[in-house]
Amino acid sequence: MRTLGLIGSAAGGVERIRPALIEPAIARGWRVAVTLTPTAGGWLRPLGEIERIEQVTDLPCRVEPRQPTDARPHPPIDCYLVCPASANTVAKLALGLADNQALTTLGEAIGTPEMPVVVFPKINVTHVRHPAWRSHTETLATAGVQLLTGDDYWPLQGPRSGQTPEIPWSKILEAAEAATTQRP
Ligand SMILES: Cc1cc2nc3c(=O)[nH]c(=O)nc-3n(C[C@H](O)[C@H](O)[C@H](O)COP(=O)(O)O)c2cc1C
Repeated sequence: MRTLGLIGSAAGGVERIRPALIEPAIARGWRVAVTLTPTAGGWLRPLGEIERIEQVTDLPCRVEPRQPTDARPHPPIDCYLVCPASANTVAKLALGLADNQALTTLGEAIGTPEMPVVVFPKINVTHVRHPAWRSHTETLATAGVQLLTGDDYWPLQGPRSGQTPEIPWSKILEAAEAATTQRP
């Protein structure tokens, strides 16, 4: 069975990852090991979503780092998917920062030859206009990270535009599946 390492950060839509991404992935034959950034974990815990994610995945939902004496709580991963990826998490990943469990895991993934890493940045125009954004995304793309950007995935809007489009969950999952299949 293939295992998807799903990383969720604190961007709009993360509250829907169980019904929109995790359960469909399981239905398509994936085992799903979920890690959240501390802020995303703080959003999902009061909603009862951490418990529900653990129930449907039958694995711990990681937010905090393990104790050095604890065993690794997740099985080996076949593909990492960062969805949704906040501008903050994309920037930190590009810089190699690893100050939470999600970034620690992802930094190692990027340094692991042949490991597919797929990232869906859930961002707005202000993030893209930041002078560091282009170099961050170029750094990640050069490292082999597949960035799901462009109007097909996420039409950029202002931070306070009225209607937020729907995240294309199925398309994102299909991209992770394709990245895993294409692995040599
Ligand atoms: C309600 C709300 C929605 C947010 N949505 C987004 C978003 O869609 N994309 C984004 O990049 N940041 C968004 N943010 C800002 C991030 O949550 C913030 O930058 C945070 O530090 C990200 O932390 P993380 O990357 O460690 O999860 C949002 C913040 C709030 C309060």
